[in-house]
Order: sequence, then structure tokens, then C-alpha cells
Amino acid sequence: MWSGWAEHELDAIRTAGRWRSPRSADLYGPRGTIDGRPIVSFASNDYLGLSTHPAAVAAAHAALDRWGTGSTSARLIVGNRPVHDELEQALADWRQTDRAVIFPTGFAANLGVMTVFGGPDVTVLSDELNHASIIDGCRLGRSTTIVYRHNDIDHVRALLGQTAGRVVVVSDTIFSMDGDAARVHELAAVCAERGALLVLDEAHSVLGPDPLATATASRSAPVLRVGTMSKTLGSLGGFVAGPAPLVDLLVNRARSYIFTTGSSPADTAAALAALGVWRSDEGAALVARLRRHVDRIRPEHPSPIIPVVLGDERVALDAARSLLDQGLLVPAIRPPTVAPGTCRLRVTLSAAHTDTEVDQLVVALGAVVASLDDRNRPA
Ligand SMILES: Cc1ncc(COP(=O)(O)O)c(C=O)c1O
Repeated sequence: MWSGWAEHELDAIRTAGRWRSPRSADLYGPRGTIDGRPIVSFASNDYLGLSTHPAAVAAAHAALDRWGTGSTSARLIVGNRPVHDELEQALADWRQTDRAVIFPTGFAANLGVMTVFGGPDVTVLSDELNHASIIDGCRLGRSTTIVYRHNDIDHVRALLGQTAGRVVVVSDTIFSMDGDAARVHELAAVCAERGALLVLDEAHSVLGPDPLATATASRSAPVLRVGTMSKTLGSLGGFVAGPAPLVDLLVNRARSYIFTTGSSPADTAAALAALGVWRSDEGAALVARLRRHVDRIRPEHPSPIIPVVLGDERVALDAARSLLDQGLLVPAIRPPTVAPGTCRLRVTLSAAHTDTEVDQLVVALGAVVASLDDRNRPA
């Protein structure tokens, strides 16, 4: 009976043209092979190339030698190693907060925040383009969730005026499929006016100055900063940084922290080393290099995520296939990840790309867009 039901569901997915399965890419950094063919990937979130940085790789090796492959238990039992404490301190210092707590993934971090600070007596205002982990956290928290129009501060302000009791406002700082930036200063200001808790998911923030370092309102509004070690830090794991009582409450209440094994010592050590690189002069040079790559494709765009919206699923898939034939891996993003009719190529750039590779991409993307224009031109 269950197999029959699953086959029926899979048929529906196939019929809708939405079948997906992971493909094996044998990569070190952005370069490697797929099915034996050389490719350059413009698909990862390794924005500064730190997943292969010698310092991060060496730190992971050293952690393996010292502590073995796993942390072997939940953090509160016996899964805590000195490297977890060190990384939490480094993250708190970096985000300029009292404390930070590590979760196994960014997804688990958002579930933890939205369940501990949400609840049936809480209203959550959530941007319509927020990440799936925030959406699921809102559901799991059983809060009254109101979705506000994307990046519309007037809408947030109006909704805040209509709500009573405790309120959480939650937003990605860089939206993962559009690569645009949230209006963090204004969010911090409206939250401060209303006494709302601001939760920011900074998973994809890598370019530009830290907006909270200059947001005066944030000093009077509590802010929880969610991040991930799985993207720019090139490793695995999530974290939440914020005021001591809020972070301590997560440690004591978040089920996605308490009832799960601590992240592996090697992942944690790699992230700690990568954070050291990111905060160094070398990191600043990598960020500047990434900025130049982004400007080559879309000047002043706020992030290394560059969407090329094509509309129809078939068009997006054909475009991705044509780029792959040229050795360039750029994923086609389709529903349910994005809304129907907004299928796109999602280009992600990394400081690890060479100038030549970015040049190649610029030419190939130009040809894809030109061929679509030709197809759409009236005969
Ligand atoms: C905005 C955002 N938040 C959270 C996550 C989840 O992070 P992780 O991959 O570490 O679970 C992602 C990853 O896709 C993301 O894009």
C-alpha cells in the first residue's frame, strides 16, 4: 500500500516535470568533474573559497587526530569539545554579541529560534521570501504567523501597529534565491519602536559592512543573529548569536540543540579556522575579489547570488543544460523553491573563481539570454 502510494506521488512529480535527484559532482573547490567531464561550478555557497583553504583543512585534520571523527553525544551530555567553546566565543566576538550557540545546521538553528521564541501567544511577522527553515520553524512554534510583502517596511510597521503581546520579526538578510538584501536598519528601527524581537538570518551575508554595526536602533531592540558555517565558512553547522539571556534560553529549551549530536570536531575546527581567515587581511582581500567578480556580472548587486530569471521551467532547464555542455555548472531553480513562472538560473560566485572563469561565464550567459531574445522576437 505505501509503495503504491509513493509511486502515485512520484508519478505526479514526474508529470509536473519536477523530478529531482542529486547528481554526483567530484569537486575540489569550484573545479572538478561530473560524469567524467571537466566543469567549473557556479552553484556552491563557498563564497570565499574557504572550504579548501589550507588553514581550514589543516585544522580539520588536527581535530580528527585529537578528538576522532564524531562528538559522540549531544552537547549537553558529553558532546562538547574545547573547540565548540572556542568557536562559540569567536562567533560572539565577530557578531559583537554576548554569546553564541552552535547548532548542527543552519536549518536546526532556525527551528530552535522560532520554536523557543515563538508560541501560541506570539505573533511572528515573516518576509514572504524567507528561507524554508524559517517557515518550518514558524509552523513548529505554533505562533500566529503573518507573512509580510517582500522587504516592505511600511507593511511591517502597519502589522506591528495591529498586534498585541510579544512579537518577533524575522528576515533573511540576503534572500537565498534572489540575492537581494533586507532593509536591516529599517527593520531594526521599527522593531525598536514596538519592542519586537528581530531575528536575522545572515546565512548568505558576505559582501559589504555589517549593517548592525551601524544600526543605532539595534542597540535598543534585541536582535538574534542566525548564521551558518555551511556557506562562507565552508564547513557544516549553524549558530545563533545574541544577548546572553536569549542564547542561554536556546541552550536550555531548543529541542534542535538539546536532542541532537554535537557537530563534529573536524567541522567545528574547520569553521573556526575559516572564520579567522575571513576576519584577517587575507579575508578582506578575498571579499574585495568576490566584489569584483559580482560587479563583472551585475554591478553593485549586494550579494554573490545572481538570479537570471527566465520564467518557464523548460527554458530554465534548457539554459542550464546548454551551460553544462560548455563546462559551466549553473543550476536551474524551479518550483517549489521559487514561484511558478519565475524559474531561473541561480549563479553563485566565489573568490575562488579565476578571472578567466568569470569571463567565460559572462560570455556564456550573454549567449543564453540572446538566444532567448531571438526565440521571443516576433517573426
Ligand atoms: C537563508 C538560509 N538560512 C538557512 C539555511 C540553512 O543552512 P544550513 O545549510 O546550514 O542548514 C540556508 C541554506 O540553504 C539558507 O539559505
